[in-house]
Amino acid sequence: MDLKTQIDLSRLPRHIAVIMDGNGRWAKKHGKMRIFGHQNGVKAVRETTEAAAELGVEYLTLYAFSTENWGRPASEVNALMTLLVTTIRKELKTLTDNNIRLQAIGDIQNLPEKCYKELLEAIELTKNHTRMTLVLALNYSARWEITQAASNIAAAVKNDQLDIQSITDQVFENHLSTAGMPDPELLIRTSGETRISNFLLWQIAYAELYFTPIFWPEFRKQHLYEAILNFQQRERRFGKISEQVQK
Ligand code: FPP
Repeated sequence: MDLKTQIDLSRLPRHIAVIMDGNGRWAKKHGKMRIFGHQNGVKAVRETTEAAAELGVEYLTLYAFSTENWGRPASEVNALMTLLVTTIRKELKTLTDNNIRLQAIGDIQNLPEKCYKELLEAIELTKNHTRMTLVLALNYSARWEITQAASNIAAAVKNDQLDIQSITDQVFENHLSTAGMPDPELLIRTSGETRISNFLLWQIAYAELYFTPIFWPEFRKQHLYEAILNFQQRERRFGKISEQVQK
């Protein structure tokens, strides 16, 4: 039986988040420049998006550029930004044909202007699509996001728009860039690294973590199916005991 048919569609994760890692090492393995790895990573983005949408996943979030990635050599940063612009432009029709909505999280206003404009345009053009939401984390870090939320909450308290006693988990969540989205239930990281790297720290409180040695440019639909099947074999207890969560 192929992997896809083994997936229980009634127990799909509503939101899958992915740390796409290993582009550079994959390129090196093939004796190429790092950007070659990023370029080939686009194919994996397309496959993963298509597979998730076909299954009926509601949200797919991809960590495409972290606030720490600015520290890479300028040539790589520039090449990545150009790749982002061309990919968004090229894939816009596919997103539209497949009824996929594009959203972004992160400090996107501080991306290069061309990249920011291209992104805003694609977000606007796809805003009414309903099949799946593809979220790109761009110029994103969880500490940045949490600090922003704390600062906005503090400002609301100062301006008498919010009482300190009313600050709950829910209020905090509403100030994150993922406000309105379900928390990721499954977080995948490729390339064999087993870190979270400042990604969605608040939102993954109860996510199942899945690490695979596959380098991102080699990630294909079957690897997503493997991750989902692994997720479906786990017992999610949310702090309770096994007997309480078993049906
Ligand atoms: C991590 O590999 C990958 C990135 C920082 C960039 C990911 C970008 C893409 C796949 C390109 C296009 C994406 C979209 C969503 C349009 P790495 O460079 O850290 O690899 P390494 O750990 O082997 O050095």
